[in-house]
Amino acid sequence: MTAAYEMGRRLVVISGGGTGIGYAIADALADDDDVVIIGRRSQVLTAAAEAINERIGEPRVRPVVADLTDPKAVEYAAAEAATAHGVVDVLVNNAGGNFAPHGADDLTQLSEQYVTNYRSNVLPTVLLTHALLPHLRRGGGGRIITITSIAAFRGNASYGAAKAALHPWSAELATQLGPDGITVNVVAPGYIGDTEFYRERMTPEFHQARSRQSLIGRGGTPTDVAGVVRYLAGHGSEFVTGQVIQINGGALLGRG
Ligand SMILES: NC(=O)c1ccc[n+]([C@@H]2O[C@H](COP(=O)([O-])OP(=O)(O)OC[C@H]3O[C@@H](n4cnc5c(N)ncnc54)[C@H](OP(=O)(O)O)[C@@H]3O)[C@@H](O)[C@H]2O)c1
Repeated sequence: MTAAYEMGRRLVVISGGGTGIGYAIADALADDDDVVIIGRRSQVLTAAAEAINERIGEPRVRPVVADLTDPKAVEYAAAEAATAHGVVDVLVNNAGGNFAPHGADDLTQLSEQYVTNYRSNVLPTVLLTHALLPHLRRGGGGRIITITSIAAFRGNASYGAAKAALHPWSAELATQLGPDGITVNVVAPGYIGDTEFYRERMTPEFHQARSRQSLIGRGGTPTDVAGVVRYLAGHGSEFVTGQVIQINGGALLGRG
C-alpha cells in the first residue's frame, strides 16, 4: 500500500464493508483508492476483500476485524486502518442495523430495545470517527460520510431514534471540521435489498411490498447507495457539507 500511496491513491475506511451497502461502497471506491473494511466476522471480511482485489487485480482492500461498539477494539481498528498511509482521506460510517427484537412486553424489554439499537448504531459511528479524527486529512479533501436511514424520518421506533441521533451529531461535526477542510455528510437510504439487514424477514413478498413504496417501481440496491457515497467522497462535492441526503426512490418525498 505504501507504493500505492506514493502513486496518489487515497485511503478510505469503511465500517461494515464486508456485506451489503458497505461492500458495494468498498467495491466502487476501490477502483481508485485503497480501502480498509472493518467488521466483526473475519471470514466475511476476508472473502469480501479477496473478491474485490481479484476483480481489480491488485491488493487494494484490506480487512480489519473489530467490534466497533467496543472502545478498545475501535482504538485497535483505527490504528490498524491508519498504518499504511498515516492519513485517512475518507471515512464511511456504515456499520449498524436493527438489532433489537420486535415488540416489548414490559419496560425492561423496551429499555433493552432502545439500548441495543443505540449501542449498535450510534457507538460504531461516534467511536470510530473520534478515533480516526487525528488521522483525517486536513486542508481539503477530508470526508466523513455516515449511513443512517429513512427510519430516522418516518419511524421504526428504537432503530429510527438511534439513526436520527446521528443527524445532529453529524451537523455538529460539520461545523467543527469545516475550517479544517473536512466535509461531513449523512446518507439516509430507504429500502435496500441484497443486504443482510432484514435477515429472516426477507421474503419475495416482503421485497415486493417494500419495493412498491418507491416512485420508480423498484427497491434500492447497495450500488445505488454506493453511487451517492462515491459522489460525496470524490472531487466535485467540496461544497457539500452538513447535509442529510436521502436516497429512497421517492419513498419519502423531499422533507427532513
Ligand atoms: N438495507 C436497508 O434497507 C437499509 C436501509 C437504510 C439504512 N441501512 C443501513 O445501512 C447500513 C448497512 O447495512 P446493510 O443494509 O448493508 O446491512 P448488512 O449487510 O447487515 O451490513 C451491516 C454491516 O455492518 C457490520 N457491523 C454491524 N455491527 C458492527 C459492529 N458492531 N462492528 C463492526 N461491524 C459491524 C456487519 O458485519 P459483521 O456482522 O461481520 O460485524 C455488516 O457487514 C446500516 O447502518 C443499516 O442500518 C440499511
